[in-house]
Amino acid sequence: MKDLKGKNVIVTGGSRGIGLEIARAFLKEGANVFTIARNGDSLAASVRNLKKDVKPGRTVAGYSCDVGNREGIAGTIRQIASQNGGIDVVINNAGMYVPDYFERQDLEVFERTDRTNYLGAVFTTKAALPFLLERRRSAIVFVTSGAGLKGIFGYSSYSPTKAAVLSLAEVIKQELKGRGVQVAVLCPPDVDTPGHAEELKIRPTECNALSESGGLMTATEIAGILMSGFRKEKFLIIGGFETKLLYRLNGISPRFVDFCFERLIVRSRRNNSKKHPCPVGRHEA
Ligand SMILES: NC(=O)c1ccc[n+]([C@@H]2O[C@H](COP(=O)([O-])OP(=O)(O)OC[C@H]3O[C@@H](n4cnc5c(N)ncnc54)[C@H](OP(=O)(O)O)[C@@H]3O)[C@@H](O)[C@H]2O)c1
Repeated sequence: MKDLKGKNVIVTGGSRGIGLEIARAFLKEGANVFTIARNGDSLAASVRNLKKDVKPGRTVAGYSCDVGNREGIAGTIRQIASQNGGIDVVINNAGMYVPDYFERQDLEVFERTDRTNYLGAVFTTKAALPFLLERRRSAIVFVTSGAGLKGIFGYSSYSPTKAAVLSLAEVIKQELKGRGVQVAVLCPPDVDTPGHAEELKIRPTECNALSESGGLMTATEIAGILMSGFRKEKFLIIGGFETKLLYRLNGISPRFVDFCFERLIVRSRRNNSKKHPCPVGRHEA
């Protein structure tokens, strides 16, 4: 989709981080933007922040809702469509990630992460689809992750949800072929966001060894990468050299990628065992 002027765009998780900058990028293109997040206060503050980027005659508004609540999100989507004359684009960005060792990770975290990342995208897309199909051209974007392209150490509650979202996008793209709905998947690398800052405080040390060569992108940069890929109607939009390399190498030789990961994990454990004994069980190379 090239011309976004006057289009109605929904961004879930648009109150901070990547979603906030995606919302801003669409506003700068002349779209109307409707953000969804749970916390009403931070949503209101983010909408005030976005107002300066609204083009004349356009609008931005926030709707407080949990994407994991299927009746709630269906009602919110209907409300946005009826109050604003339909929906052209849905960005499924709302997500959560709580890294830990599988052995230690609470089952409640698996359920909550799945409900937000995967079912949240299902509920939102299912509710929006009838409105998207009313348009001649419309679009659905799914924000996944490099961790959805390959299972990553410490992300047992997260990687599978993002792989599921990628698979969902592939199915929807095939099923909607020829019906005017563009489908895209954004795979960000590590991005500097409030969520990522929290993640850094708790993630197992081995995760640092796996991600340290990738650097940290800004939310504005990844939103720019999305807009560029979106305009070119690309399906898979991967941000950052390391994530692109991971995608290509894992496609050619997953065993080689596993070997590289295992080397990094063993080296990280060796370095850290001198300082801190590993917190979960015995780990042997
Ligand atoms: N940052 C990274 O390094 C990175 C890398 C790869 C992929 N991603 C993906 O990019 C997306 C955004 O990540 P981020 O780092 O920007 O996260 P973030 O800073 O934690 O922001 C998350 C946003 O989603 C909203 N949200 C969370 N749970 C929700 C729910 N159940 N219902 C509605 N809104 C919800 C949050 O608002 P409330 O809490 O108020 O609901 C907030 O607006 C996620 O899907 C994440 O998996 C991030």
